[in-house]
Amino acid sequence: MKTELKFESIESLQAELLVVLAADASTSKEKNAIAKPILLTRDSAVASVDKPALQSGEFSATVCETLLLYAPAELKAKRLLIVGAGKAAKLSPAEVRKAAGAAVRFAKPRSIRQVTFVLPEHDGLDLAGVARAAVEGAFVGDFDPDTYKSDRKDRSIEQFTVVATGRADKPAVEAAFREGVILGESQNFTRALVNEPGNRLTPTMLGERAAAMCKEQGLPCEVYSTDKIKELKMGAFWAVAQGSDEPPALIVMRYEPKDAPKDGPVLALVGKGITFDTGGISIKPSEGMEKMKYDMAGGAAMIGAMRAIAQLKPKVRVIGIVCSAENMPSGKAYKPGDVAIAMSGKAIEVLNTDAEGRMVLADGLHYAKQLGATHLIDAATLTGACVVALGMVNAGVFANDEDSYEHFKKALAVSNERFWRLPLEDEYREMIVSDIGDIKNTGGRYGGAITAAMFLKEFADETPWLHLDIAGVAWVEEQKPWIAKGPSGVAVRSIVEWVRSYE
Ligand code: BES
Ligand code: MN
Ligand code: ZN
Repeated sequence: MKTELKFESIESLQAELLVVLAADASTSKEKNAIAKPILLTRDSAVASVDKPALQSGEFSATVCETLLLYAPAELKAKRLLIVGAGKAAKLSPAEVRKAAGAAVRFAKPRSIRQVTFVLPEHDGLDLAGVARAAVEGAFVGDFDPDTYKSDRKDRSIEQFTVVATGRADKPAVEAAFREGVILGESQNFTRALVNEPGNRLTPTMLGERAAAMCKEQGLPCEVYSTDKIKELKMGAFWAVAQGSDEPPALIVMRYEPKDAPKDGPVLALVGKGITFDTGGISIKPSEGMEKMKYDMAGGAAMIGAMRAIAQLKPKVRVIGIVCSAENMPSGKAYKPGDVAIAMSGKAIEVLNTDAEGRMVLADGLHYAKQLGATHLIDAATLTGACVVALGMVNAGVFANDEDSYEHFKKALAVSNERFWRLPLEDEYREMIVSDIGDIKNTGGRYGGAITAAMFLKEFADETPWLHLDIAGVAWVEEQKPWIAKGPSGVAVRSIVEWVRSYE
């Protein structure tokens, strides 16, 4: 998808599909309030076109609601698509992101290949933030997961043009627009990885994809395998990896800007990269097991985030680490009752081989500290318990440090991704104390997302650390107007924003 930013009035625009947003200006105070849709542009050309349509009562401007007008006489555009953005009083970049995605997803099945999106103007709405969100939303909407259909028709949008009318702060809008392109592309890069099935994306192949991305973006990258994992004494990571005929991959990506202060922070992004999770000897039920191809979504988010960071160039050092393996049952597989000695020296009693994510991350987090990380963030499709707790709306976030969490909260205000903080308190630690060793890899039925996080906390130790459990939101189970069913690319935008907050 090519993108372009124009500062122009609408009247003279040639467009296949001109998209203008509308919001509902009615207030809830009014009794039996019927919607009062208003167009979110001050450009006079559109105003006359829309009147009958908006006053018809057929369109209430709810989020992503669409209304198509064909060949409006007053405009040069072939079609005018009005997209709802919800209540005018609550309008924010979040709704604009969705509306842009919905516009693109309106165009795609109709084989409309060019979309011209008018940036909405409304009191108090930051035009730069809206420009960024619109571009992100367009990329998100443009992605479809049907990669392997033999009769696949690529209907992706060729050209997405953003039009700023009125008096925009040009440099700010231009910069935000550029950021939107980088983040949208990077999120889709992650989604393409997550979409790949286990046979087409083994740990080795994930390593190759990461290395290729790094080469393209000019980032140093090393991809290690069995020998290095053994040499580093990553006994927890190896315990999982040993069961598969596919060799594991330890991916290390670096972003080292020359202009970062010498004694500044070093941020490490650590991702779970299980390319397929059968559960191992504690094998999962066959129903739904196919979904476990997305068990590398945390790792893929880190690779996508590194891609965006390479382009956005914040003045802060970042290390990306992905611990990738396949969790398989076999004659070589680790077993319940086994004791694995992690790189940190901690003895882990394996109660359930299906709790493999925390095993690989334990060594990933410890290694990150050895490489000099001062701040850690990990992302993982870690627990079904997190899905039980928060459903498919919010991901879980855990923190051992208030300052890191504050940075993350600020990042969420920009990314508009949904994370809900869950507790990490000492009482939960008792649930993972082992009789034979230091800790067990499961803490029983209750509070499963928390005990998994407590396990990871042992390895982050004193280093400020955030843990993102994205099990419930890494895969969109039901398509929405702005996003296809399939990989969501969640966490990329939030992680990148978090990194930038340390600049
Ligand atoms: N990859 C799964 C978690 C998961 C579940 C991701 C659902 C996405 C959707 C993880 O490795 C796992 O199997 N966790 C177990 C842990 C348990 C054995 C303590 C779980 O959640 O059941
Ligand atoms: Mn598992
Ligand atoms: Zn898993």
